[in-house]
Amino acid sequence: KWDMGHFLKEQIKKIRERVGEGKVLCALSGGVDSSVVAALLYEAIGDQLIPVFVDNGLLRKGEREQVESVFKVHLKVPLITVDASEHFLVKLAGVTDPEKKRKIIGHTFIEVFEQEAKRHEGIKFLAQGTLYPDVIESVSVKGPSETIKSHHNVGGLPEWMDFELIEPLRELFKDEVRKLGLELGLPESLVYRHPFPGPGLAIRIMGEVNIYDLDMLREADAILLEELKASGYYTKTWQAFAVLLNVKSVGVMGDNRTYDNTVCVRVVESVDGMTATFAHLPHDLLERISRRIINEVDGINRVVYDISSKPPATIEWE
Ligand code: XMP
Repeated sequence: KWDMGHFLKEQIKKIRERVGEGKVLCALSGGVDSSVVAALLYEAIGDQLIPVFVDNGLLRKGEREQVESVFKVHLKVPLITVDASEHFLVKLAGVTDPEKKRKIIGHTFIEVFEQEAKRHEGIKFLAQGTLYPDVIESVSVKGPSETIKSHHNVGGLPEWMDFELIEPLRELFKDEVRKLGLELGLPESLVYRHPFPGPGLAIRIMGEVNIYDLDMLREADAILLEELKASGYYTKTWQAFAVLLNVKSVGVMGDNRTYDNTVCVRVVESVDGMTATFAHLPHDLLERISRRIINEVDGINRVVYDISSKPPATIEWE
């Protein structure tokens, strides 16, 4: 096995030699790969790094705050957060088709990212969290990628941003990237995070995306993750999330009839996301998740559990 401390020192040296006095632009998604790239580059070149985090308004509860706390407070990296949530929501208004949502989110990201890049002079490089498996496999449109590679498929960066690429994780597998992350001082909560798709919660709300549904889904999702972490199932599973179905059903709350939303809980086991089986969670855990979501989230009166595997179902619902 590799010695990560040694790898880190070598990379820092290589990056310094290559970058010289130039500036390096880096998009952070909050995921493992881009976080490790940003932390590594900051260690190597300090303020020559321009780390940009775009808040698209489609993130989970507390996600932006977590990224900001890790980078700004903990690692002292001068992270630039661009709050573009309204912009994304306006563009997504009225859109129901999943692939259209993806395209719009991809294009809007490029637009926002370009605008931020224009505000900085002397950018020569673009850092990306490309891993070894990405290098050997051809890049798929729907890969579990957390880098801007996935956005490249839906538009690509404008020509003036054709910077030289810095891909310091090109030789590493995911487990090695995690080790490197820990070596760089990233917290375990970030290093062992489940994958999260670029289009975020937008593809976990069936149909049109709006701010009310996003808030509702965020609360339900947070309860699910909290219960999974408390029970130890978070680390035993590949992905876990709530989906807001476009289905209303009748319920009773005290003496009143309700007619509210349905949330589907999706928890899967997988090694690479290509195939997956639904997690056989204990019934008492499922019961607790369901009870808490219905009691604590306004507008939800029913929770169902997804018992389909991939294939033929996909992990995401859209
Ligand atoms: P599916 O739903 O195809 O998902 O079984 C497989 C893995 O890919 C993730 N996924 C995406 N990741 N952009 C991404 O960056 C996307 O548009 C996208 N769609 C799916 C999904 O979360 C799972 O890990």
